[in-house]
Amino acid sequence: MFWLKTRIVEGEGSLESLKNEARNHERVLILSSGSMKRGGFLSEAEDYVKEAGAETMSIAGLPAEPSVEAVEELLPKVREFQPDLLIALGGGSVIDTTKALKVFYDAPDLVFEEIAFIDRFSKPKPVPKLKTPLIAVPSTSGAGSEVSAASVLKKGGVKYNIVTPEIAPDVAILDPRLPRRMPKEVARNSGLDVLVHGIEAYTTNVAGPFSDAMAIRAIKTVFEWLPKSLEGDAEARARMHYAATMAGIAFLNARLGLAHAMSHKGAWMGPHGLLNAILIPYVMKFNAERSEYARKRYDEIARELGLKSAEELIQAVKELNEQLGVPKLNDLVDEETFTAKLDEMVEKAYHDGLIAFNPVEPKPEEIRKLYLKAFYGE
Ligand SMILES: NC(=O)c1ccc[n+]([C@@H]2O[C@H](COP(=O)([O-])OP(=O)(O)OC[C@H]3O[C@@H](n4cnc5c(N)ncnc54)[C@H](OP(=O)(O)O)[C@@H]3O)[C@@H](O)[C@H]2O)c1
Ligand SMILES: [Fe+2]
Repeated sequence: MFWLKTRIVEGEGSLESLKNEARNHERVLILSSGSMKRGGFLSEAEDYVKEAGAETMSIAGLPAEPSVEAVEELLPKVREFQPDLLIALGGGSVIDTTKALKVFYDAPDLVFEEIAFIDRFSKPKPVPKLKTPLIAVPSTSGAGSEVSAASVLKKGGVKYNIVTPEIAPDVAILDPRLPRRMPKEVARNSGLDVLVHGIEAYTTNVAGPFSDAMAIRAIKTVFEWLPKSLEGDAEARARMHYAATMAGIAFLNARLGLAHAMSHKGAWMGPHGLLNAILIPYVMKFNAERSEYARKRYDEIARELGLKSAEELIQAVKELNEQLGVPKLNDLVDEETFTAKLDEMVEKAYHDGLIAFNPVEPKPEEIRKLYLKAFYGE
């Protein structure tokens, strides 16, 4: 099966489509990050909603890499305003926060620990039908949350997923004016997340022909356009913006693998996309050595890029990381803290739900070795 719940509106200036989308709604809540307010996009969005005849309230300054606590803090404001439409204006962090707010606003009896995928060996409680529609307007080109069915939240420095079609946005508005304002580092980190989404979605054990098409197109776009995007090239920024959503469509269907399991469980170490970029070459080597299927799939990606083999692809990913100045894990955290947290990360990554989709089921000792290799940059 291949599915996509989200209606996608794209193009320069497409934020204006909020005028249509907000029609027939009474109270519209816009959640946004600080940069969207500073850049004037929040007030532009508010104007469109008002033109549609709806009352609007905004909450700006939502945090990056959101936690369960951040969602709990915002929830009373949402309940008080009683919106009948939610608009998330920001990066993956804002979209994920808004998705979680939708869950607890529409279904106040639910508890995060009961509905999140905490452990792949036990099933979470199903999320019932949720009523408030959600529009996602991504300002980064990375997470793919504007089409995905997941909300990723931190609890104690570790990330867990809520996954249900109920939180997949109803509409995604892809206006390339927004990501053009991303600082270079945000463009790099989120752009490399697109690469890892593409590579992992192409190699899971549930990948299919339609998710493959989206994944390959996203991977090719990253290699061709991400470096130019970091130089501020306007066309490159637009291409990366669409590629991010394509990769999102790929992993919505084909899911993700070991690199994401490990980055989620090491979330305290740094930004999501950056951790994935650091981990992916090690995960690819591990998968390719143990699985004929994984090797064949990496070979296919390599050929699409004009390379010969899985080995050349892994090398190309490492070179892209170097070219874009991706640090080593031990530049991000000190050895003592890393060593103290290693057991917990290994244990939790081993229990992460995404391991079930990775082409190889790793043993805890193997996950430990991968974290250590990534830390020492071997
Ligand atoms: N749900 C999913 O399917 C999924 C998939 C992958 C990743 N994720 C999650 O998504 C999060 C990462 O999202 P992200 O990579 O999109 O980054 P982000 O964490 O949403 O944004 C990073 C920073 O970039 C700034 N920023 C964003 N857009 C900007 C713009 N247009 N101009 C200037 N500054 C901008 C924001 O600063 P300000 O605060 O100043 O605005 C923010 O602090 C992680 O928590 C990750 O776990 C979710
Ligand atoms: Fe990701």
